[in-house]
Parts: sequence; structure tokens; C-alpha cells
Amino acid sequence: MTAEPLEIYLEEQDLERGLREDVRAGLSAEQKWLPPKWFYDARGSELFEEITRLPEYYPTRAERAVLAERAPDIAALTGAKTLIELGSGSSEKTRLLLDAFTRRGGLGTFVPLDVSVSALRASTAEIAADYPGLRVRGIVGDFTRQLDRLPTGGRRLVVFLGGTIGNLLPGERAGFLAAMRAALEVGDWLLLGTDLVKDPSLIVPAYDDAAGVTAEFNRNVLHVINRELGADFDPAGFAHVARWDADHEWIEMRLRATRPMRVRVLDLTVAFATGEDLRTEISAKFRRAGIAAELAGAGFAATDFWTDPEGLFGVTLAQAR
Ligand code: SAH
Ligand code: AVI
Repeated sequence: MTAEPLEIYLEEQDLERGLREDVRAGLSAEQKWLPPKWFYDARGSELFEEITRLPEYYPTRAERAVLAERAPDIAALTGAKTLIELGSGSSEKTRLLLDAFTRRGGLGTFVPLDVSVSALRASTAEIAADYPGLRVRGIVGDFTRQLDRLPTGGRRLVVFLGGTIGNLLPGERAGFLAAMRAALEVGDWLLLGTDLVKDPSLIVPAYDDAAGVTAEFNRNVLHVINRELGADFDPAGFAHVARWDADHEWIEMRLRATRPMRVRVLDLTVAFATGEDLRTEISAKFRRAGIAAELAGAGFAATDFWTDPEGLFGVTLAQAR
């Protein structure tokens, strides 16, 4: 079956307006910051896929190990008719779920949602070709804003993999889980992948790899702003920094100015002093009890929690109650 045309919740102009608002707010702030969703143009999505294959980046391999073992249980426990994936990217690991649902029967529709049109175009075409019985409805959208528009009908399983929930700030995360619960009916399911707290000596290299792919991914946000908003960032003037914040239990990615710079963007002139940081991402790490508590606070009951054999990454199955 060929994929249906992408459903657009976010038009090109909405994306550009969002980028303008975020750039204005983030680059005018005392501690400069940008939200991580702007990494993911076509190049950023490719770089992320490259990161998932790096020897240092354990989360993808660890989550894949969990799904490889547990996908048949997830299909049987949820009996979902519709599988919705948020921040789907390539949906590469999701194939383990699609395989299990295909063997079991009953899944009718797969709905990947992502802000990256290029990633979605490729994944929907490939999945539609490889799962001929499945209806594939790709949605270009923002999971922090548009959960109220998710498709309805039949028992739903929403999957949010990769640990992407950890890229939301704690307040955003609570808002996201509340909106997610509001979008679901009692009995619908959420499958949530979370990277777990562990020795930072394992976490930090995953965000500061020897080949420099994560550094390029980090700087990509500056290329996006230059291209989309006509800014004049010199990405080579910024060093990649990955720093473990033990109080918050998250990794912070930053771009550090290596010399004084003045950047023109929109109607702003943004000054960077040598050593000044622009925060581009947090990647929070979780503990089992914390995940269950956050889910309970949003109206979900965590029914199962699985990890890979090394206990690096957690996958929680939760039901809307
Ligand atoms: N789920 C995949 C990809 C993770 S990368 C995996 O586990 O490997 C994060 C993905 O989320 C990217 O594809 C990015 O484009 C998407 N994304 C980031 N912020 C988003 C947002 N606010 N709304 C929708 N998609 C978003
Ligand atoms: C998508 N997200 C879960 C990745 C992470 O690990 O936080 C993004 C990433 N940032 C640097 N490397 C990968």
C-alpha cells in the first residue's frame, strides 16, 4: 500500500512563526537558550540517525533490546487498533511493534507524528511499502501543542520512544502528560521510553562522541536559523559542550562562544562574550519511581516497566484511567 499524503497540522508559515518567536525569546534572555525541536531539519534528522549508530550512544540500542523482547507482550496487553507515534523520526524501532501487531492481527492504522517533514516522508513511504495491510497516516505536527487533534476511534496506543520526553523541561513535561491524558479515553495506552539515571561517565560520552557527530548536530540549529531567518551565525565560532547536571539529573547541551561575536537575526543584534553559552537541549534521565509518579499525577496507571539487560533504558506501559 502507498502512504496517504501527509496531514499537515503545522504549515511552513506556522513553523517559521514558531521559530521566530523562539529565537526572539531565547536569544533575548539573560541565559540564552533555544528549544531542541529546531535541530530537526532534513540534515538534523540525518545527523540524529547517525548519532543512534555511534558506539557511545547507548539509548537507541538499549531501547531496541527492550522492544525486541517485549513487543509481543505490548501487542497482547494493549490489543490496540490504532498505533500513534509521537516524535516518530525514522520509526525504525517501532517496526518491532508493527511486526508484533501484524503477527497478532487487529492493528488497522499507524499514525506517526513529527515536526520533521523529511523524516516523516521517508518513514511513511517505507512503512506503507513494508506493511501492506496497514493504513499509514503521517502527521506533520508539534507534540507540545497539538495533541488535542490526534485521531480517535478504536483502542489507541500512543508510543513516545527514544527518551524524547526528557528533552522537555519539567514544566513542559507535566503539561505534555496532562495534554496527552486529555487526548485519550479511559483504557487507552501510552508506551513511554525513558533513559535512566546512571553513572555520568557513561552518559556524557553519549552526548560528546569522539567522531564529533553530536557536535555537528548541536551546531545544526545555527545553520537552521541562518537559512530560515537570514541570520549570520558563524557555527564554527561555537564549541559543543555536554555537561551533566547532577542536581536536575539531566545532560545539558550548549554552544559556547569561542570569541566575542555579534549576530544579526530578525531585528536583533545578539552579543556573545567569549565563553558565553547558548543552551540548546536538556536530556533528562529518569528513575522508575519518578516516572510512575509523574504518570499517576497526569491520570495514567503504570502497569509494566521493562529495561534492557544492563538496566540502561526504561520502557513503561501505562493506561489512561
Ligand atoms: N523516536 C525516534 C526519534 C527520536 S529523535 C527514536 O526513538 O529514535 C526526536 C524526534 O522528535 C525527531 O524526529 C524530531 O523531529 C521530533 N520532534 C522534536 N520535537 C518535536 C515536537 N515538538 N513535535 C513533534 N516532533 C518533534
Ligand atoms: C531525541 N532525544 C531523545 C535525543 C537525546 O538523547 O536526548 C537527542 C539527542 N541529543 C543529543 N544526542 C541525541
